Amino acid sequence: MFYRKNIIAVTGMFLCVFLIVHLSANAILLFPETTARTLYNSYSTTLRESIVIKIVAYLLYLSIIFHVVYAAIVTYKNRRSKKDKYIMNHKHETSSWASQNMGLLGVLILIFIVVHLVNFWARVKLGIGEKVGLDAYGNIDVYEVTYSLFHNIYYVLFYSVLMIPLGFHLHHGLQSAFKTLGFYHKKGLAVLAKISLIYAIIMSIGFAIIPVIVYFK
Ligand code: HEM
Repeated sequence: MFYRKNIIAVTGMFLCVFLIVHLSANAILLFPETTARTLYNSYSTTLRESIVIKIVAYLLYLSIIFHVVYAAIVTYKNRRSKKDKYIMNHKHETSSWASQNMGLLGVLILIFIVVHLVNFWARVKLGIGEKVGLDAYGNIDVYEVTYSLFHNIYYVLFYSVLMIPLGFHLHHGLQSAFKTLGFYHKKGLAVLAKISLIYAIIMSIGFAIIPVIVYFK
């Protein structure tokens, strides 16, 4: 039982680091059109061609799978038994709405990730769906894929609104991961709780405003 929550915490932390890199990369979309297209496409090409990034990407996919599977098992077991150690270890924390609904928030994020991967990853990496053209430098035009997707108001709403559950999930998840991994110092935890809040706000607002700004570009 003990190892499950550690796997959730470690994979969750890794996914949090990925989100920082992913948001920074997607912030390129906020630059003026020509700069954004060149930078975004060359960043995307580097991602596809680097062997190191490929290994990290496989770690990322594994992390998502392990995080989801173990979180589902823990949520299921917690529902069946209040004596579950995961709850026991966290019995002193104030039980926020997010902490009680991590499963639901997780499902919403999973729906987001599946749609998102179909929108981008499947098209760009697997060549599934509408064919992706090349830019002036001969790179796959991922910028165009993003630009046209975010000119559809339904996708803009989908991408922006689902950043609300992402924010709640990150806020509770990050502080919980710190506790699970052994941070018990009261003052330290209070600081980590603030860091988790700031992190969650930056991630959710950051990801939510990009589609909106691209829409009005
Ligand atoms: C403004 C919002 C976002 C944009 C524009 C965006 C864009 C992209 C693009 C273009 C790719 C494909 C990269 C490539 O192979 O060239 C991608 C991959 C991915 N995105 Fe996002 N993303 C956004 C938000 C998110 C969020 C919020 C999450 C997670 C909750 C996420 C998770 C992923 C994952 C897991 C991959 C696959 C990683 C890989 O194989 O390299 N994305 N995204």
